[in-house]
Amino acid sequence: MFIVENRGSPIVDAYEKTIRASEIAPGTMKTVKLINGEKVLLVNTEGKFHGMGAICGHFEWDLSDGRVQGKKVVCAGHGAIWDLETGKAQFDEPTTDEPLYDIAEEDGFLWVRKRAAEAVASQKADTRPQAV
Ligand code: FES
Repeated sequence: MFIVENRGSPIVDAYEKTIRASEIAPGTMKTVKLINGEKVLLVNTEGKFHGMGAICGHFEWDLSDGRVQGKKVVCAGHGAIWDLETGKAQFDEPTTDEPLYDIAEEDGFLWVRKRAAEAVASQKADTRPQAV
């Protein structure tokens, strides 16, 4: 886990600088701690970076101890699964969905900000027919 500091983002003030993108190889992930104490799971799925809450809502395992499975993350604790696009959990026991974070890559670093609630809500409200 890494503790980061905000050095004044040139992108948008709400973004916070974290670690070098090269520190997360495709198919792997790391947890970073933001200034406000939030722990964010940074995941590299085939070169695309995703950001999601890092602590399992079941028994609070750090999700970076688990594994990446396509665009999903599996908790090392008891196998709960999260979709990195929606933050939705799949598990037989009570757990929580995870918040999502926007990721920007600049000068080789990953910059993180919590995704606006409206953006998350519009994802959930997307009722377009799905291909089967
Ligand atoms: S601690 Fe994550 S599934 Fe139980």
